[in-house]
Amino acid sequence: MSFRWGIAGFGWVARDHMLPAIAAAGHELVAIADPSSTARASAEALGAFASPDVTGLLAKRPDAIYVATPNHLHLAPVAEAAASGTAILCEKPIAATLDQAEALVAATGAVTYGTAFDQRHHPAHRAIQREIAAGAIGQVTAVRIAYACWIDPAWRPPGQTEVSNWRADPAAAGGGAVIDLGLHGLDLAEMLVGEPLDRLQITLQRRVHDYPVDDGGMLVGRFAGGALLQSHVAYNCPEVLPRRRLEVLGDKGMIVALDTMGQSAGGSVQLTCGRSGDTRAIRFDTDLSPFTAQALAFAAAVAGGAHDFSGTRDLNLMRLFCTAHEEALACL
Ligand SMILES: NC(=O)c1ccc[n+]([C@@H]2O[C@H](COP(=O)([O-])OP(=O)(O)OC[C@H]3O[C@@H](n4cnc5c(N)ncnc54)[C@H](O)[C@@H]3O)[C@@H](O)[C@H]2O)c1
Repeated sequence: MSFRWGIAGFGWVARDHMLPAIAAAGHELVAIADPSSTARASAEALGAFASPDVTGLLAKRPDAIYVATPNHLHLAPVAEAAASGTAILCEKPIAATLDQAEALVAATGAVTYGTAFDQRHHPAHRAIQREIAAGAIGQVTAVRIAYACWIDPAWRPPGQTEVSNWRADPAAAGGGAVIDLGLHGLDLAEMLVGEPLDRLQITLQRRVHDYPVDDGGMLVGRFAGGALLQSHVAYNCPEVLPRRRLEVLGDKGMIVALDTMGQSAGGSVQLTCGRSGDTRAIRFDTDLSPFTAQALAFAAAVAGGAHDFSGTRDLNLMRLFCTAHEEALACL
C-alpha cells in the first residue's frame, strides 16, 4: 500500500513542489487542510479530501502530515498532528520565532518529526557528501554559499491571488531573506561538513525593497571542528543572474555546485584537484528532485528505517540562528 500524505497549507510549495514529489515517489495525497476555499477547491479537483481545519484532515488518518503554512502558523498543526500520533514533516524555518520553535519541537514528543530542509536530500548534495567523506578534497576548510532570488513588496507566491506577501511581514515570517533562505544553507553545510556550527554572526541589509524585513544578509560562521562558513542570501537579486552557488573548499581540492540549491532537480557539480588543478564532474541523478528524495526518505523514516531527520538537531541550529539574528536585527 502506498504512503498516504496529508498536507496542512496547500499553497505554493505544497502545490508546486510537494504534490509532484508525492506523485513521483508513488505516494498518495489523501487530504489537505486550508482555510482558503480556492486552495481547497484545487485539492478537491485532484481527488483529495479538503478540510478548512487540521482536525478534518487528521480524521482521514494519513501516514504523515506535511505542514506548509506560513512560518508563524506551523506550531498549531504540528501540535495537533503530534497529539494524534501522526508523523510530521514541517517546512523550514521551524517557526517564525525561537519560542514557537521550542514549543513545536517539544510538542512532537515521540512521533517521527522532520524539518523539510529539502536541499539536504538533493542527490547532488548527497554525492558531494560522499566525496567529502571519501577524502576527495581532504580536510574541509570552508563552505561558501550564494543563494538569492527576487522578492519585491508586491510579490505573491505563484498562483496565489488572495494571500498577501507574508514573507514581508516580520510577525508572520520572523524576518526576511535571511530567515527564509539562510537556514537552508546552514543545514546543508552542517550535513556536508558532518559537524554542527558552533559560531554564527549575521549582518542584515534593507537595501532595495521597501518593506520592514531584511532583503539580504551575510552569514559567517565556524563549525565545531574549525571549518568556516560564509553564506550570502538575498531577496534583491534579479533572477536572470547567477544566484545559486555552493563551494566546499578543502586542503586537497574544491567542489563547486551550480544551480543545485533550490527546489528542483538537476544542476551541476565539479571537483577540482588541489594538486593538478584538473577538474572532473561529479555525477548524480539529475531527474530526482530534492522534494521527491525527501518524501521517499521521510516515508522510510516513518517505516522505521535509518534516517537523518532530527528535531533536536534542527532546534539547536534554530537556537544558534536566532541568537545571531536578534543581534543582527538590533543593527538593521
Ligand atoms: N523548502 C522550500 O524550498 C520552501 C519553498 C517555499 C516555501 N517554503 C516554506 O513553506 C511554507 C509555506 O510557504 P508557501 O510559499 O507555500 O506559502 P503560501 O502562502 O503559498 O501557502 C500557505 C498556505 O497555508 C494556508 N494556511 C494559512 N493558515 C493555515 C492554517 N491555519 N491551516 C492550514 N493552512 C493554512 C494558506 O491559505 C495558504 O494556502 C513556509 O513555511 C515557507 O517558508 C519552503
